[in-house]
Amino acid sequence: MKPPREIVQTILQEFRGSLYRIYRSIFRGSYPATLRQQLGVVVNNLVLHVHPTRVYRRSIRPAGTLGLGLICFYLFVIEWITGVYLMFYYEPSVSAAYGRIQDLDSVVTFGRVVRNVHRWGAEAMVVFVFLHMCRVFYTGAYKPPREFNWVLGVILLLLTLALSFTGYLLPWDQLSFWAVTVGTNIASYAPVLGPKFRFLLLGGDTVGSEALLRFYTLHVIAVPTVAALLINYHIWRVIKDGGLARPPQQEPQSADGVVPTFPLVVYMELLVFVVLTVGLLVVSLLFNAPLEEEANPLQPSNPSKAPWYFLGLQELVSYSAFWGGVMVPTVLTLFLLVLPYIDRGPDGVGEWFARKRLGMIILWSLLLIGIVVTILIGVYFRGPNWNFYWPWNAWPGPD
Ligand code: HEM
Repeated sequence: MKPPREIVQTILQEFRGSLYRIYRSIFRGSYPATLRQQLGVVVNNLVLHVHPTRVYRRSIRPAGTLGLGLICFYLFVIEWITGVYLMFYYEPSVSAAYGRIQDLDSVVTFGRVVRNVHRWGAEAMVVFVFLHMCRVFYTGAYKPPREFNWVLGVILLLLTLALSFTGYLLPWDQLSFWAVTVGTNIASYAPVLGPKFRFLLLGGDTVGSEALLRFYTLHVIAVPTVAALLINYHIWRVIKDGGLARPPQQEPQSADGVVPTFPLVVYMELLVFVVLTVGLLVVSLLFNAPLEEEANPLQPSNPSKAPWYFLGLQELVSYSAFWGGVMVPTVLTLFLLVLPYIDRGPDGVGEWFARKRLGMIILWSLLLIGIVVTILIGVYFRGPNWNFYWPWNAWPGPD
């Protein structure tokens, strides 16, 4: 009979051996120490192989991209994971939806925090996709050969808005019901096709059970599937278009200008993920996602406001339905789609706020100010009957 100490040692050795065998079955080599092994990590790993094996030192400076594209990608993944959790409990029917959301908020394990992460993550995704687009614009990174990737980005921006908007209805409370009613009304101002599009989206003339089912299907499967495919394509194109945009004079002349992607870049990306997740968790523990009274189609909330990112359009619609509902969104979308094909000169590529692009930079900034100001007016300065009011003169709340 062996002494107990030896028995424990044998068990520990066996345990370590098993762990090592499991490790080797997943990762086919030991920790990559040499340059050759480090390049191999990227080539041989399913997730990492979207990276090039080496990157320009300049491309990984945080000030270059501010990590915004990566953050958009992570937010999409977080939305996907938390969304699946919520799907276990949610039921897309008018009679059950609101109660299920209340259950998530009160009785389901981790229900409230997961719902909060999903909600604030969705809001953050709209903001970060927009910021990422501004970063790409201000660094002239949409110019050849990246024109088509910009177009893919514009489609992704529209899909992000669609994802958020279709999710808005699902809690089936007064806020979501009237926001979607107003939002889909804006769409219906387009001549001929507008009312047809609204009817198709809602499955009828008003927001009801058909609309809830359609929004649910769009939200949980149709839009995310298309978005996931396009995000993959978009990121793959970044590499195929020659990596991140950089000024031609800054092409590295020697191997000193490049570093292997593993481990530095991979660890930097992991750090962004951890910081983002922790940040989102903290916000979700401090602030609850809104949930008002159950939707009541007979009692409009006053004011009825669209989701905040459409409030700029709602503000314009209050002056002219044609301009706010048709002209401005159409012209803006067309402008974004054709921009890289008309502004093609090599000036200022990969450079923040290049002087040579001053005209375009002023134009974009004015546009940005217009969008932000109209949204702020809609959010903070519009009260009952869409009249102006000062945010500090709090109105009594929805009737
Ligand atoms: C779900 C939305 C999006 C995701 C996940 C995403 C992801 C990314 C990532 C990871 C990169 C690599 C560099 C970086 O971090 O900036 C990138 C680059 C790029 N993105 Fe996006 N993006 C999205 C939306 C957009 C939008 C709305 C636009 C513009 C309308 C856009 C245009 C571009 C372009 C042109 C590049 C190349 C930039 C360069 O070479 O410097 N993307 N995107």
